[in-house]
Amino acid sequence: MTETRPIRTFHPRRGRMGARHADAMAELWPAYGLTVLDGDRTPLDLDELFGRTAPKVLEIGFGMGDTTAAMAAADPGRDYLAAEVHTPGIGNLLALIGEQALTNIRVAHGDAMELVHRLAPASLDAVHVFFPDPWPKARHHKRRLIQPGNVRLLRQRLRAGGVLHCATDWPHYADAMARVLDADPGLRRTVAGSGRPETKFEKRGVRAGRPITDLAFRRE
Ligand SMILES: C[S@@+](CC[C@H](N)C(=O)[O-])C[C@H]1O[C@@H](n2cnc3c(N)ncnc32)[C@H](O)[C@@H]1O
Repeated sequence: MTETRPIRTFHPRRGRMGARHADAMAELWPAYGLTVLDGDRTPLDLDELFGRTAPKVLEIGFGMGDTTAAMAAADPGRDYLAAEVHTPGIGNLLALIGEQALTNIRVAHGDAMELVHRLAPASLDAVHVFFPDPWPKARHHKRRLIQPGNVRLLRQRLRAGGVLHCATDWPHYADAMARVLDADPGLRRTVAGSGRPETKFEKRGVRAGRPITDLAFRRE
C-alpha cells in the first residue's frame, strides 16, 4: 500500500535563531508552546490549553508574529492559537509574549491544517489567514491554503457567526480565494474590520506596488 502524504502549503525555509529567540524558547516554550504532530487526531480542549473559557482565534502562518502579538494585546478578551512552521518565527513570537507579558497566545509549531483536525467543531470565533504563500505557478496551486477542502474544514471549526478572515497581496490569489470562499455553501461574505495591523509580508507587497485584498466570510 502506498502511503498518502498531505500536500504541504509551505516552503521549507531556513532560518537562524538568535540569542533572544533561543532564550525565549528555553524559557517560554514549556508553558506557551504546542508541538503539532502529523497524523495526531487527539482532541484538543482549547479552554484547557488557555486555562479559561473565552472566544478562540486560530491564526495560520503568523510569520514572525508581530501582528499576532499586537492583535492579541489589543484584544485581551479572546485567546489566540497561532500556528507556524518557521522556527525563527516561533522564537520571535515567544519573545514578544515574554516582553509584553501576554497571556492570551499559545504558539503551535507545525502544520496548521493538521492541528485543525484536533479542534472541536464550532470551537473557533475566528480564523486568520494573513498573506499565505501565493504559490503562483499553476502546477503549485494545489499547495495553496485557501482551497475548497481546507475551507470546508476551517468553516466546520468556526462557530455559527464566526469569521474566516484572509488577506493577500497577490491579485490572482485574491481572485481564486474569492471564488473558493463564495462557492462554500456555509459561508457568507461580510465586511473585514479595520483592526488588522500591517504584517511583515504585507509591507513587502506594498513596497513592490501590489494591491492588498482583505476577504472576510461569516459562517452561517
Ligand atoms: C508569506 S508568509 C506570511 C507570514 C505573515 N502572516 C505575514 O503576513 O507577515 C506565510 C507563512 O505561512 C506559513 N505557513 C504556510 N502554510 C502553513 C501551515 N499549513 N501551517 C503553519 N504555517 C504555515 C509559512 O511558513 C509562512 O511563514
